[in-house]
Amino acid sequence: MTDELAEAAKARLPRAVWDFAAGGAGAERTLAANRAAFDRVALVPRVLTGSVPDPATRLLGTGMTMPVAVAPVAYLRMYHPDGDLAVAAAARRAGIPFTAAMLGSHTIEEIRPDWFQLYWPRDRGLMLDLVRRAERAGCSALMVTVDMPVMARRDRDVRNRFTLPDGVTAANLVPDGRAREGSTVVAHTNTLFDPAVSWADLDWLRSRTALPIALKGVLDPRDAARAVAAGVDAVVVSNHGGRQLDGAVPAVDALPGVREAVGEHSQVLLDSGVRSGLDVVRALALGADGVLIGRPLVWALSVGGTDGAAHVLRSLRDELCEVLALTGCGTVGDARELATARM
Ligand SMILES: Cc1cc2nc3c(=O)[nH]c(=O)nc-3n(C[C@H](O)[C@H](O)[C@H](O)COP(=O)(O)O)c2cc1C
Repeated sequence: MTDELAEAAKARLPRAVWDFAAGGAGAERTLAANRAAFDRVALVPRVLTGSVPDPATRLLGTGMTMPVAVAPVAYLRMYHPDGDLAVAAAARRAGIPFTAAMLGSHTIEEIRPDWFQLYWPRDRGLMLDLVRRAERAGCSALMVTVDMPVMARRDRDVRNRFTLPDGVTAANLVPDGRAREGSTVVAHTNTLFDPAVSWADLDWLRSRTALPIALKGVLDPRDAARAVAAGVDAVVVSNHGGRQLDGAVPAVDALPGVREAVGEHSQVLLDSGVRSGLDVVRALALGADGVLIGRPLVWALSVGGTDGAAHVLRSLRDELCEVLALTGCGTVGDARELATARM
């Protein structure tokens, strides 16, 4: 499903925009490894369980129709004029959470997302201001991304001298002029972000908001354990879709160790390479409570706006229910008990 969708998006988008979204860091080793790792995971189905699939679940306190949420993706208006609003509407239709990106191209107030993602700006006043705006806009959780101390070199963007298209800005940051059109994305990101964030900063943030916090970009079980001790409610096992450390471990391979480290003290989400209902069940079987979807929704948005994104989410749920049925699972909890093998 997503290969055809990706091809359709590629045909429609300007080459540099396609490259920015599809590409990864460096030689794109981790980008490729994310898919290869998923495809090595075989499921061991159960039989005679009498179960009927119902994938509804709850992540970060939010009820949803399936264990899938929309990953934060910056600058969605590059792909469709309705950008973040279109994908948020599709998520609402599908009954799953939309995570608005700090670098989103519509404001928190316009989107009123379920969850809001933050990076670490050097200016902590700005960060706190964004937290308060998210709270006022009714967000029910924060997702704090910690795998971008600096933005990785992405060869395609260097080659294309990639800059944001006219009219696309980091809308949440624009009124005080912190993000400008025309500069390369990497230049303005590295000016904005704090490269030296530490656990003390997480403590600082934890003490300043009552919202649940998910820490996104955790791959080492020791960091996962430390995050739980610091009071986070979930960790997101992610290598940023292969866009940060090239050579980072595939998220799927890191997942069992992270689950073991946090036990059931925290929820564990996963992203980076999820492309189908089968992948969702693979992630559950390896220890995830749920997954985030990134690029497939960018392609769907590019091709068909809200309807396109809603269609992809419907197909994903149909596939998920089929895989649950074929593995003898009724619920997300059943899928978490499935055994896996290598193939
Ligand atoms: C074009 C693009 C922009 C992204 N922007 C952000 C962002 O602003 N914040 C963030 O935490 N992650 C961002 N990500 C990473 C996604 O949240 C997610 O980790 C990744 O897309 C998952 O991998 P997948 O695309 O293979 O599903 C971005 C990913 C893409 C492809």
